[in-house]
Amino acid sequence: MADFALPRNSKVQDGKTWPKPEGASNTRTFKVYRWSPDDDENPSVDTYTVDMDTCGPMVLDALIKIKNEIDPSLTFRRSCREGVCGSCAMNIDGTNTLACTSFTSEVSGDVKIYPLPHQEVVKDLVPDMTHFFAQYREVEPWLKTDSQPPERERLQSVEEREKLDGLWECILCACCTTSCPSYWWNADRYMGPAVLLQAYRWLADSRDEATGDRLDQLEDPFRLYRCHTIMNCAKTCPKSLNPAKAIAEIKKMMLERQI
Ligand code: SF4
Ligand code: SF4
Ligand code: FES
Repeated sequence: MADFALPRNSKVQDGKTWPKPEGASNTRTFKVYRWSPDDDENPSVDTYTVDMDTCGPMVLDALIKIKNEIDPSLTFRRSCREGVCGSCAMNIDGTNTLACTSFTSEVSGDVKIYPLPHQEVVKDLVPDMTHFFAQYREVEPWLKTDSQPPERERLQSVEEREKLDGLWECILCACCTTSCPSYWWNADRYMGPAVLLQAYRWLADSRDEATGDRLDQLEDPFRLYRCHTIMNCAKTCPKSLNPAKAIAEIKKMMLERQI
């Protein structure tokens, strides 16, 4: 019979329980995934207790407080703390989202924090995004034109510009891509929802003149067509975007050019 047990070194163990803050009456418990490339230990989940009377309201505030006051070795990415840079994407309470725009008060019970799923981990909550951004580069995310440049800007009508709404807002946090089962199993060949939404952002741009080349690049059983409309991507996007709809629009363009 097949053995479906996880490899021994991938089992997540109980980690360290850090001391509670003295004299605090309003506390929350954070269970945080830990893994270091610097030893041979299995991943573990550490338990931290945070005094919420001296902590900001967001999950990122709590992580920063833990790092500053309890455990400086805790590693995570963040930059803007405004939901703009996408770097604090992680799995909080079972959902891929941004730590800086997630209220701790909206999580009931212990706050469980893991890195984005199905990615290699660099350390603790930091996933390796190398492959994700290599795929992003493949869609050549810039305006491509052959025609003579006009004297001033390449103009768009109000209606043409509106077609980019719901696309330009993507911050490339990868919450959607790492929630997509098709991507989990075929990340080597399937582009995933974030990159396909970005691909459509240029296909939908009235100023771009490389539509045929862009569609050729996606015409492949895996790169585009591994999307099975499972919709995890739209459900999880912290910017309320709908990558599945963008993917459907690309498929429609593929069909239309065959007619
Ligand atoms: S709709 Fe497509 S891209 Fe979105 S989660 Fe499902 S399979 Fe993945
Ligand atoms: S579509 Fe949403 S979830 Fe996906 S990368 Fe863009 S902002 Fe993040
Ligand atoms: S820190 Fe930039 S999106 Fe959260």
